[in-house]
Amino acid sequence: MVENTVVIAAFQPLSNLDLVELLIGKGITSLSMDAIPRIARAQKMDSLSSMSSLAGYKSVLIASNSLGKYFPMMMTAAATVPPARGFILGAGVAGLQAIATARRLGAVVRAFDVRPDVKQQVESLGATFIQVEEMAASSEDTGGYAKELSEEHQKLEQEVIHEYVKDSDFVITTALIPGRPAPVLITEAMVNDMKPGSVIVDIAAETGGNCALTKPGEIVTINGVEIHGPVNLPSSMPQQASHLYSRNIVGLLQLATKEGELNLDFDDAIINGCCITHESKVIHGPTKERIEANS
Ligand code: NAI
Repeated sequence: MVENTVVIAAFQPLSNLDLVELLIGKGITSLSMDAIPRIARAQKMDSLSSMSSLAGYKSVLIASNSLGKYFPMMMTAAATVPPARGFILGAGVAGLQAIATARRLGAVVRAFDVRPDVKQQVESLGATFIQVEEMAASSEDTGGYAKELSEEHQKLEQEVIHEYVKDSDFVITTALIPGRPAPVLITEAMVNDMKPGSVIVDIAAETGGNCALTKPGEIVTINGVEIHGPVNLPSSMPQQASHLYSRNIVGLLQLATKEGELNLDFDDAIINGCCITHESKVIHGPTKERIEANS
């Protein structure tokens, strides 16, 4: 690339430190869509939300297509069919969209997240929130994202999850920790305890998966349980994925330019938050910290 080029992309800098070194070497100004702060003013630029929402929606369609059952309760002359039971792990943007979609299709839905704040959001969509009181205080960082759990809390979490996956027809997993591998929430033992014919759709597959048996980009069947590890789900809805992503980029360009020229105001929390490198220096605080910790 030409030196000093400005590049807008989803760099995921914490997982791509080698790339950050290359950007510094070339003096490239990198603005990372995934690092835009989640503040109200930045909502129109929030591609993480645009893409997660598509992924959450599609994950439920995959589950309903794979499950050999109705989602809604059906009262027919022949018999009454009970509704499908779903369990959604992680109730961020993707998880909430998955809950909403599964509810629209008539499933009974339960959801779990380490962040207690989402309880009300989950309930407003007509799902039941599974809460683990002991974890509530220590599971969220100052930016509203989940933190990695202690070993003790991981064990506690897995015990709770075990109880609910056994009883579910479909499980959608969406749990992510920024800059870290996805937490393993569903172990092999849990899969073995699930009913044959049930389905897991693990949309955290790209960063390792929330299920220990997920194979990214593949569908595997273990003891009759179908485990989907879809990657890049938004690309399966290309029209709206491109439409929304382009609107997100326009939102950022409106802030980063003035009268058609680049005009980066580093006192602006959004520009300062999403700029990874500029003039051969690392601007992004968490990336700087990670590089210093590694050296
Ligand atoms: P994400 O994609 O980083 O993670 C998905 C979900 O997984 C999160 O709800 C997280 O709490 C959960 N999770 C992580 N580890 C877990 C574990 N061990 N067990 C169970 N669940 C686990 O999250 P997303 O969707 O990007 O949202 C992150 C934050 O950003 C949230 O607080 C959200 O409300 C906020 N947000 C703010 C916006 C704004 O403009 N103000 C817009 C969109 C999101």
